[in-house]
Amino acid sequence: MKKERKLKDLNEFQSWAKESAFVYPSSEIYGGFAAVYDYGPYGSILLKNIRDAWWKSMVQERDDVVGLDSGIFMHPTTWLASGHVGGFADVLVEDKKTNIRYRADHLIEKFFAEKGETVDMDKKTPEELQQIIEENDIKSPDGNELAAPRSFNLLVKSNLGSTDASFDEKNVTYLRGETCQGIYLNFKNIISTTRKKLPMGIAQIGKAFRNEIVARQFIFRTREFEQMEMQYFHHPDDTEKKYEEWKKDRMKWHTDVLGIPEDSLRFKEHAKLIFYATAAFDIQYKFNSMGDAFDELEGIHARSNYDLTQHAKHSGEKMEYFDQSRNEKYIPHIMETSVGLNRIFMMLLDDAWTEEQIENAKGETDTRIVLKIKKSLAPIKAAILPLMRKPDFQSKALDLKKSLQSEFMVEYDETASIGKRYRRQDEIGTPYCITVDHQTLEDNSVTVRDRDSMKQIRINSDEVMDYIKENL
Ligand code: GAP
Repeated sequence: MKKERKLKDLNEFQSWAKESAFVYPSSEIYGGFAAVYDYGPYGSILLKNIRDAWWKSMVQERDDVVGLDSGIFMHPTTWLASGHVGGFADVLVEDKKTNIRYRADHLIEKFFAEKGETVDMDKKTPEELQQIIEENDIKSPDGNELAAPRSFNLLVKSNLGSTDASFDEKNVTYLRGETCQGIYLNFKNIISTTRKKLPMGIAQIGKAFRNEIVARQFIFRTREFEQMEMQYFHHPDDTEKKYEEWKKDRMKWHTDVLGIPEDSLRFKEHAKLIFYATAAFDIQYKFNSMGDAFDELEGIHARSNYDLTQHAKHSGEKMEYFDQSRNEKYIPHIMETSVGLNRIFMMLLDDAWTEEQIENAKGETDTRIVLKIKKSLAPIKAAILPLMRKPDFQSKALDLKKSLQSEFMVEYDETASIGKRYRRQDEIGTPYCITVDHQTLEDNSVTVRDRDSMKQIRINSDEVMDYIKENL
């Protein structure tokens, strides 16, 4: 049995992600910018692979879901109608001495967790949270008194399109706090310009922005992030059935398409609901890097006809749908699946990152970091490595690289020893390393090394493309 270790905490995660070109802190040359991250050469490919996998399952392979790409900015009334201006808030508490701000619910949860107790802090009001803080004499992490909790709206304001003189609270434009509002605003357009009938879904991937009070968990909670959301429009009688179908479907996506082990995932029902939901489940993942704690990955929400009704009221447009099959007119109800792209990214790396003790070529014990990510999601699919930096080896290797490049992301590497080059590729999750050696010059065969087993096979270089395609 190989000895293995997983990520021990977020510090190790963050420094590894930076060193291996996945995630960089934002604006480092200016001293950093809190709760925003940039995705490096391998990180940006992994994000794209996740987006593509979601889109394929959600839109391409389904007949009842279409795609959309709506603007980040929307008419200011959107956010009044949706209820976000009034109700999209977290409760903040401030350390009276250091002025550091905390989310009140998180502080209370931590207080009880340290005593081995779990409490449900879902959607508590500032007054309820204050009472808990007082009754239990909860202090800040620095041991200081806390100021009274207060609501803090999460929408990010902009001054788009306004001159300074005309800029007032009424015409504030917001950066979208969730992507799905763009879907609701386009529901009528999509129904009238496509031949889609209900039940049907609209899917969208895009950036969302929230003024998170605290964002200290690497890329888990950031102020700029990306959502992959699908809104399923249906008759109210179908809600229960659709809810169960989507719950099953989404869990299966995490296990089958992303390759996450079943026992690292679970459903958690919300005890108290956010203002728009009538039922809500989260899919949670057990993060190695966050002390083996389960935390939210994806939300599955029954939103009733709340959003369309609100937009109808504020815009004066009718949002009713005439259902020919039922001979009935109604405002459709919505089932939502909403997942953060960056959280999926974090889960995939958290699950895949493995430090292994192995035996090297000399029979000595060695360690390697290997990213055991599902091969089809790996940023680089193959690395082409000439054994020696000599023209014969190099030109063969470069020819092979060129032939594979039209199909896959591949890398060519001729620096350092072959062992070091294998390690580099293991660490970024490259499934196959293809080495051009002396024998290649004689019979055109190459070695193909598998990332996980580290076993090598020898095949003709003309067969490499098909071999990789069949084994991804
Ligand atoms: N439209 C529904 C909605 O936005 P949500 O539970 O607030 O629901 C859905 O967000 C998902 O978006 C979450 O499950 C999470 O994956 C992701 N998400 C939310 N806030 C985030 C943040 N600050 N940083 C990164 N991802 C976030």
